[in-house]
Parts: sequence; structure tokens; C-alpha cells
Amino acid sequence: MVERIIKVLKEHLGNYVSGETLAKISGITRAGIWKQINQLREMGYEISSSPRKGYCLTKTPELNPFEILEGLKTKRFGREIHFQPETDSTNRWAKRLAVEGAVEGGLCLAESQTQGRGRLGRSWFSTPGKGLCFSLVLRPKINPSELAGMTILTAVSMAQAIYNVTKIQVQVKWPNDLVFDGRKLAGILAEVNGEADMINYLIIGLGLNVNQRAEEFPDELKPLVASLQMIKGSDLSRRMILQEFLRIFEINYDRLPNGSLLEIVAYAKKNSATLGKTVRINQGYHRTLSGEAVDLDDDGSLWLKEPSGSMIRVYAGEIIQNTEEE
Ligand code: BTN
Repeated sequence: MVERIIKVLKEHLGNYVSGETLAKISGITRAGIWKQINQLREMGYEISSSPRKGYCLTKTPELNPFEILEGLKTKRFGREIHFQPETDSTNRWAKRLAVEGAVEGGLCLAESQTQGRGRLGRSWFSTPGKGLCFSLVLRPKINPSELAGMTILTAVSMAQAIYNVTKIQVQVKWPNDLVFDGRKLAGILAEVNGEADMINYLIIGLGLNVNQRAEEFPDELKPLVASLQMIKGSDLSRRMILQEFLRIFEINYDRLPNGSLLEIVAYAKKNSATLGKTVRINQGYHRTLSGEAVDLDDDGSLWLKEPSGSMIRVYAGEIIQNTEEE
């Protein structure tokens, strides 16, 4: 019902529509319309009202389920959108929904998080209204050993979406960050629930810096991060980036059962911020590997040449130092 009201207000953007007209179109009383209008205001729509003229839509929110669904070119991903202006963590929220049986492709989206989480116990900083913070509920029919490929698939899908919308070519920092000139633009937190041979659900959370200005980041992050706005010099549409990401992610994800990550890996290699560099990789529990990042294998794992000259295959980890090779 609220959809119908938005539709009519949008058709008359900037002009007043009488309460009576809205009541007729949606089949509810004028008092009911007042309630719906207030609900829309809570969702971020800016609507002026005048006792004689009715209601006038002056601004539509950028990240709102109705707005995202309009023009979304997917069959399953993002078709069920859970949106809150603020939540603790979209990953935590998505997990709760997954436990309750949420369908694959369900999206949890928030303007800001009070406890945004990163990998290795870090936190994720988000500026309300400026970045993208979301999590997807997935139920992939893959073996748990193939999970590493899922984060690369996510990173590459977002890199492709960013390019299509903004023409900015970002690099993939293995296995799951996006960077530009060495500065972090996006991070991915994948959390899985299942057994040794079966995945129950997988939550993929992604945080992307879109419209933050340099001064909006905390001092300790300033030298390390960037936003798309800082690169482009103008604001970008978070909605378009999210819609395009969901479209590309769905295509890439649906190719997985056919057994191939090859195109994804090829993209990650071509636009890699890691290959050819001397790296140190933190694998948790005080386990660190170091060497030269030589190549990515077809499943997305990293071939590392250790100082001894031996080659090892690394499936997961966090690059904590990424220096140019001399
Ligand atoms: C990292 O770089 O360490 C991963 C950062 C992941 C942040 C995103 S923001 C949306 C989702 N919800 C969270 O609490 N974390 C992820």
C-alpha cells in the first residue's frame, strides 16, 4: 500500500497531491494516509504537507528497499531487503535471519553500524549516509574447502560493479579487500556455519567507502583508506553501485556449480594489488607466513614463494605487510 503512495507522489515530484486523491488510490481513509506518510518519513522520504494542498515529495532516500528494488536486475539476490538506519552489525543481523530460515539472497543493509566488525577481531568504521554496509545470506552448494573462492568472487563482483558505475578501476588485495593506490576501499567478512562436509549458511558482509571525505575518517585510518568520492572528486550513487553489485554477484555466483572460478580468478590476477609483491600473511593464532606472492591458482588460493625458495599454497589469511619488491 505504501508502495502505491510513493509511486503517486513520485509521479508528482515537487508538486502537491491531495490527501483525498491518495486515499482513493490506496483505498484507505485520509487518517490512514497520514499514518502511511509518517511511516514514509521515517524511511527517509522528505514529504511536505499542507492542510489545503495535501502532500508533496521533495526528496527520496538513496538507500531504501523500495528505491533499491526499483531497477534491480536480479532474480534472487537483494529481492528480500531488510533495512535499518542503524544496527549493531549487518553480519550479525543476517546470521540471526539465516538461523530463522532466511532464503538465499536476503540482504541486510544499514546506514550505520554501532559494532561493525572486520576480520581478525577488528572493527569496521562506517559514516552514516556515506558508505555501503551490507550482508548477504547465502546457502552455497559447494564444499567447505571451496569457500576461499567465495570471498574472491565477492571482491571481484564489487570491483566490476564499481568499474561499471564509476569507471574507477580498483585492485583486489588477496583475498578479500579492494584497494586503490594501496589504500583500502572495501573489506569483506565471510562467516560460515556448517559441518565438515556441508555448509548450512554463509554470510558475506561487505563494507565499501563511497562518499566519505578524507577528513571524515578517524586520524588513525586517514593514511590507510580512501573512498570512491576521494578518487573521483564527486559523489557517487551508493544505490547504483549496490544494484550493479547484486546483478553481477548473482551472475558470478550462479556459474559456480558449473565448476569454474576461472574468469573471476583471471580478473583478480589482472587487477591484483598483491601479485609480485613481498608479503607477510597473518593466518591467526600467531601463525605468519612470508614470501613473494607469485600467482593465484584456479580456485583462488595464493602461491607464495618462501625465502627458502619453496612454493606453498595459501588458502586464507590477511596480508599485514605489502611492500613493493625491490
Ligand atoms: C575487514 O576488512 O576486516 C572486513 C570488513 C567487513 C565490514 C563489513 S560492513 C558490513 C558487514 N557487517 C559487519 O559487521 N562487517 C561487515
